[in-house]
Amino acid sequence: MSNYLRIRQILQTKPLGEQVEIRGWLRTRRDSKGEFSFLEINDGSCLANLQVIADRSLPNYPTEVLKLTTGCSIRVAGKIAASPGQGQAVELQAKTIEVYGWAPAESYPLQKKRHSFEFLRKIAHLRPRTNSMGAVARVRSALAFAVHQFFREQDFFLVHTPIITTSDCEGAGEMFTVTALDLENLPRQNGRVAFEKDFFGRAANLTVSGQLEAEIYALALGKVYTFGPTFRAENSNTSRHLAEFWMIEPEMSFCDLAEDMALAEKFLKYLVGYALDHCADELDLFGRFIEKDLPRRLANVLDHDFIRITYTEAVKFLQDAGRAFEFPVHWGTDLQSEHERYLSEEVFKRPVIVYNYPKTIKPFYMRVNDDQQTVAAMDILFPGIGEIIGGSQREERYEQLALRISEAGLNQADYDWYLDLRRFGSAPHAGFGMGFERFMQFVTGMANIREVIPFPRTPGSALF
Ligand code: 4AD
Ligand code: MG
Repeated sequence: MSNYLRIRQILQTKPLGEQVEIRGWLRTRRDSKGEFSFLEINDGSCLANLQVIADRSLPNYPTEVLKLTTGCSIRVAGKIAASPGQGQAVELQAKTIEVYGWAPAESYPLQKKRHSFEFLRKIAHLRPRTNSMGAVARVRSALAFAVHQFFREQDFFLVHTPIITTSDCEGAGEMFTVTALDLENLPRQNGRVAFEKDFFGRAANLTVSGQLEAEIYALALGKVYTFGPTFRAENSNTSRHLAEFWMIEPEMSFCDLAEDMALAEKFLKYLVGYALDHCADELDLFGRFIEKDLPRRLANVLDHDFIRITYTEAVKFLQDAGRAFEFPVHWGTDLQSEHERYLSEEVFKRPVIVYNYPKTIKPFYMRVNDDQQTVAAMDILFPGIGEIIGGSQREERYEQLALRISEAGLNQADYDWYLDLRRFGSAPHAGFGMGFERFMQFVTGMANIREVIPFPRTPGSALF
C-alpha cells in the first residue's frame, strides 16, 4: 500500500527512513554529471518544495527523467533521508518516478523566473501554480475558515442569504439584472420592459449585500452573519473594486453603534492574528517580495486600539491638512479614497473608525441620530487600503424608516417586509460588512485586488 503524503506533512514530521510517495508538479530539474538529478517538487500543500534525488539507475532515467521540465506532473515513491545539501533538512530518494503529464517547455507559459502580475492574470488557469498565487490561495482559504471560527466562538449563527434578490440594499442602483427573458425580443408594456412576464414575475438582480435578509434572522436568532458573493455593476476600474466580491456581514440584535465598532475591531484583530499564527511562510514570502513593510503593518493593527473620530472631526482634519486634494472636502461630501488614506496613513498611522456620517450620503436603513443631520454609520479605514468595513446601527423605528424610504425615492411596497420588522417586535440592531478581498489585500500586501481572488470580475473582464 502506498504511503501517499503531502509535502507539507513530510517537511513537518520529517519521517526519516520511511517509504513514502508524493504527487506534484516539477519546479526545476538539475542534473549532476549524468549520475543523478535533483528534482524540486511542489504539490501545492505549502510554499516549500521537496527535493527529490533521481538516480540514473532508475529504469526510465534516460527516457523520461532527463526530459522532465518545469510544470510536469509526477508521482515519486522512495525513501525519506536526511539531506546533506544546504537549503533542506530532508529529501526523497526516488525508487520509482511516474510521469502523469508533460508540460512542453517551448509552450508552457510559466518558466522559472518572475512573471508580472498583469501577465499572470491572463493565465489565471495556471497562475495558482506560482509561489505568490499559490500562497494567496492558501491564505484565502485559511482566512475564510478563520471568519467562520471567529463568529462561531462569538456565538453567531451562519445564515445563507440569497444571491438573487428583488431588493436593492445599498440603494445605489448598481445592480446586475437577472432575467430569463428573450433579450432579442423583450416583452414591453407602456414603453418599459414587462418584468411581470419574467421568471420571477418581477425584476430581479444579483445581490449587492445580504444585510437586509441578515436583519430578518438577527431579529429572530439574535446574532447572525452571512459570508457570500456580492455583485456590483459600478464602473470603477480601480485596484480596490471588483464586480464580484465576497462580503462578510454580521448582524446583531440589541446592539448599538459602539458595540458594532467594538466587534469589528475585535474581528479584524482576530483575523490578522490568525494569519500570523497559521500562514507564517506565506506572509514571510509576501514580506520579502510583495510589500517590505508588511510585518510592521500587520503588527500595527494588533498593537493599537483603533482611532475613533466622528465624520465632522474627520472633515476638520482634512480641511486643516494644508494640501489640495483632488476632491475638495466640506461637511456633507462623501470621503474619497485619498481622504481615507490621508487619515489612516498620515494623520493617525493606524486603523481609523469614522462614524456619524451625514445622512444625505448614506443609505436609507441607517439610524438617524438625535441631531437629525447624521446617521449612526461607521467606516473602518486601513492604512494602504482605505475603507475595509462599512457598517451602521439600523433604523429600528417604523415612522423614521418609512420617512427615509420615501426620502430616498424608493417604493414603500417593495420594502413592506423590511418595515414589518419594525412593526412587530422591533429592536435596536446593528451590523457591518467587510470586503473579504480588501482584507486579503491588506494581509498579503497585494497592491491590486485582482491578485487576491482566483478569477477577478472587473469592467470588461470576466475570463474563465
Ligand atoms: O460599505 P458597503 O457598501 O456596505 C454594505 O454593503 C452594507 N450593507 C454592509 C452592512 O452593513 N452589512 O460595503 C461593505 C464593504 C466595504 O467596506 C468594502 O470593504 C467592500 O464591502 N466593498 C467592495 N469590495 C470590493 N469591490 C467592491 N466593488 C466593493 N464594494 C464594497
Ligand atoms: Mg461603504
